[in-house]
Amino acid sequence: MAIIIDGKKTAEEMRKEFASRISAVKAKGHVPGLAVVLVGEDPASEVYVRMKGKACEELGMHSETIKLPADCSEKTLMDVIDRLNTDDKIDGILVQHPIPCVKDESGVFNRINPAKDVDCFNAINVGRLVIGDGYLFPCTPAGCIELLKRYKIDTKGKHAVVVGRSNIVGKPVANLLMQKIEGGNCTTTVVHTATKDIASFTKQADILVVAAGRPDYIKGDMIKDGAVVIDVGINRVADASKKSGFRLVGDCEYATCEKKASAITPVPGGVGPMTITMLMHNTILSAEKRVGI
Ligand code: GUN
Repeated sequence: MAIIIDGKKTAEEMRKEFASRISAVKAKGHVPGLAVVLVGEDPASEVYVRMKGKACEELGMHSETIKLPADCSEKTLMDVIDRLNTDDKIDGILVQHPIPCVKDESGVFNRINPAKDVDCFNAINVGRLVIGDGYLFPCTPAGCIELLKRYKIDTKGKHAVVVGRSNIVGKPVANLLMQKIEGGNCTTTVVHTATKDIASFTKQADILVVAAGRPDYIKGDMIKDGAVVIDVGINRVADASKKSGFRLVGDCEYATCEKKASAITPVPGGVGPMTITMLMHNTILSAEKRVGI
């Protein structure tokens, strides 16, 4: 029986820990503030953006949501970012991906003031992450590392295998896992769609991080006994027995992986709740820097 790595409980604990840090920032006359920019009406993005605003509100932080139409000009979006970059009420800026009005999203992320880049998608912060001198880390990858740390998983010298090479999860989480930090210091392998015989790699993993975006992709016979499984996937699959008509599953087939793993994140309730918590963490960190804490 695997230990269940409970992201919901961990996220709640962390949010309690934030209270005193937020009070300390407020005592210096500033309220930590996050601005979220949503372009278009993607239903999943709308849910995520609402959750981000709600998380700020619950923590007593300032939040602003700026909604732009899907067909807005790139200049309109850049003007919004420029305004937020110099707005003293705002410590963190996040432009929700996908961004339908631009061809090149990285141009948008690079426009954000690196000190306010709480997503860590800006090339400057990605570079700092890679060379190991950053302080803002991308939220979902940082959430994975935080879970490994808080569950006291011994990662040093272990073989971490990352499935997926996206800019949002695969690449940054692999970089964090190889850094000489608590929750990292691993020998790290990244596998992706062009990898031949993915199972031959996943079977070697002491720590398996899966961000493939494919429901139930990793089966129990693809992992080794005692592996720690961090499942980043959140996929909707049709389920006529549910009122909504769907249920959420991860990228790992839970029933078979749970039998072999020593610890595993469930979906939902694993990595998911950590993402917004790490966003709050980054916004608080940025506010602390502003007021000199
Ligand atoms: N869309 C899906 N995940 C993310 C994220 O972590 N940040 C942003 N900005 N957009 C996303």
